[in-house]
Amino acid sequence: MSPRVIAIDGPAASGKSSTAQAVARRLGWAHLDSGALYRAVTLATLDHLEERGAGGGPLWSPQRIVALADQLPVRLVLVSDVFKPEVAGVDVAEAIRSARVTRRVSEVAAIPEVRQWVNAQQRRAVEGHPRGVVVDGRDIGTVVFPDAPLKVFLTASPDERARRRLAQRGDVIDAAELRRESDALDARDRADSTRPVAPLKPAPDAIPLDTTRLSLAQQVDQVVALADQRLPR
Ligand code: CDP
Repeated sequence: MSPRVIAIDGPAASGKSSTAQAVARRLGWAHLDSGALYRAVTLATLDHLEERGAGGGPLWSPQRIVALADQLPVRLVLVSDVFKPEVAGVDVAEAIRSARVTRRVSEVAAIPEVRQWVNAQQRRAVEGHPRGVVVDGRDIGTVVFPDAPLKVFLTASPDERARRRLAQRGDVIDAAELRRESDALDARDRADSTRPVAPLKPAPDAIPLDTTRLSLAQQVDQVVALADQRLPR
């Protein structure tokens, strides 16, 4: 039986998490932001592990990152149908959005052992949920839940994504800031799209949805309409 999952993938700041959360609420399902888990593992790594220094290989030992994530632990806790990231029992929802974490998360997320660990948490969360879970990320439809009955690939123009990210943070929106944010998003997308393991790309059966000119309410309506077709309730 295919898992009760809606997969929402796409590049940085394309509106995946806001859309996924609103769709989950409309369906009475839970929401899981896989990026939050990669960010929580990155936060734990930055706070607890020494970097190994230069030399070409990974800066941190993959085994030590995974052991740390198990021990602290880094985990997802279901609160009012939202899976929230915790590190050592502390809610890190805000701390994981810091620039310090954002700068390093793609590096940690490119480590295959980290991806296996994160994927196992996601599959356990979905198995344990009685209704269904809207999961957003980069590889949900391609790798984590390839049998999901509905996969959506969200995109938006680089300018619009930069504008949304600045607005979300309450930052000034001027030409210089837009350019800086757009460059930062582009660098992360390039890293996420070119890594050898689970690169950012649409699944062959994903439905593309360009949200550049859509409001959040419109994009949520479109995904809920698709869910109603694909997942008769
Ligand atoms: O919110 P934003 O779109 O900026 O990013 P995010 O969803 O919080 O994801 C942060 C980072 O985690 C991404 O840039 C990827 O490097 C990584 N990630 C991933 O590799 N695979 C996923 N399924 C989700 C996130």
